[in-house]
Amino acid sequence: MKLSAFKYSVGFLVLMFFCKASIAQNLVNGKKIYETKCLVCHQADGGGVPNMNAPLDGSSNVVNSDLARLVRIIKYGYNERVALDGYYYSNAMTPNPDLKDADIADVLSYIRNSWTNKASKVTTAQVLAVKKKK
Ligand code: HEC
Repeated sequence: MKLSAFKYSVGFLVLMFFCKASIAQNLVNGKKIYETKCLVCHQADGGGVPNMNAPLDGSSNVVNSDLARLVRIIKYGYNERVALDGYYYSNAMTPNPDLKDADIADVLSYIRNSWTNKASKVTTAQVLAVKKKK
């Protein structure tokens, strides 16, 4: 009995440690994901490619509060051909089925807080909440 209580408290401490570490980690992880999966189209400066790939820096949609839209774009890709801040982009964004909820939260936190963008970070719980609504 005593031993299992001890095991539970060690388990709890380890869990707490990883929770804390993941909060500090999320922009670092977000940057890594951006560089491997997004940079090729959206560029290192987030400026995109005129008429082809939408910019993320300075985009009103990236920093607004419609997180559900952002989560879906990352998960399922995007090829709507609607005007984004007044411009159209001819390329199609590819879906990212391999990204976990935490990864989506991290990469969204990263693009919302890079270059000139300053917006709230996105949590894994918020990504999960979007999934439940669907
Ligand atoms: C193959 C090129 C490509 C890749 C890779 C790509 N995107 Fe995109 N992205 C686009 C294009 C093109 C659009 C605009 C599509 C449209 O207008 O229909 C877009 C749109 C977006 C938007 C919406 C912007 C707005 O103003 O509404 C976000 C957010 C976004 N991408 C984030 C990302 C993130 C994060 C990644 C990496 C996980 C990524 N993209 C990977 C090409 C790409």
